[in-house]
Amino acid sequence: MEIDIFTLFPQWFEWLRQQRHIANVLASGSHIECVDFRAHTPLSGGQVDDTPFGGGAGMVLRVDVMEAALRARYGVDPVELRERRRVIALAPGGRVLDEPLVGELAAEPALTLLCGRYEGFDERILEHFASDVISIGRYVLSGGEPAAMVICDAVMRKLPGALGDERSAAEESFSDALEGNPEYPHYTRPAEYRGWGVPEVLLSGHHERIAAWRLERSRERGAGGAAAPS
Ligand code: ADE
Repeated sequence: MEIDIFTLFPQWFEWLRQQRHIANVLASGSHIECVDFRAHTPLSGGQVDDTPFGGGAGMVLRVDVMEAALRARYGVDPVELRERRRVIALAPGGRVLDEPLVGELAAEPALTLLCGRYEGFDERILEHFASDVISIGRYVLSGGEPAAMVICDAVMRKLPGALGDERSAAEESFSDALEGNPEYPHYTRPAEYRGWGVPEVLLSGHHERIAAWRLERSRERGAGGAAAPS
């Protein structure tokens, strides 16, 4: 998979590249490239944003600046680009990211992530250049970069070789194996801690009973029947 991230802070993504499951995927031929749209602005002084028409606080990312950066990277009109590649603008009001959407994105050969700053994007970027607008939740971040990192993390861990043990992805929260429900509870040593025990079935060595118990706990969590801390 090829992920291009358009950002004013490309250096932030150095950390992301070093995280183990991301590094594993990058070592198997995937790429994360950052494009600093300030480097491509046609405006003087590195200007990328401007005050909103109609007044109000904050600055808005300019459509001409975004076009220049997209053209520099892909050599085509960004209006056409979105016909052949997912171009995702990150904004609090977009489609909220969930496991089915992560799965959909993980099946793409390439993604472009556009990180807004300040008051966000000139609306024409969303209308004419983006194929999708995605939010990581109904709250406002100072910019799209943390959201881009969340998408990279969630998408890349689905790619072959990301996790040491492929079973971790097959039977994790929201997977088909768990009927789309959150994952069952996990326990490890010590079996007894401050008087808090571990469900007896998990110590039984009886694989079928363990599998049935886990599926049941997972269903309960999906139904909101038990606390789902993880
Ligand atoms: N940019 C600012 N807030 C955001 C959010 N919640 N999701 C995605 N991008 C954002």
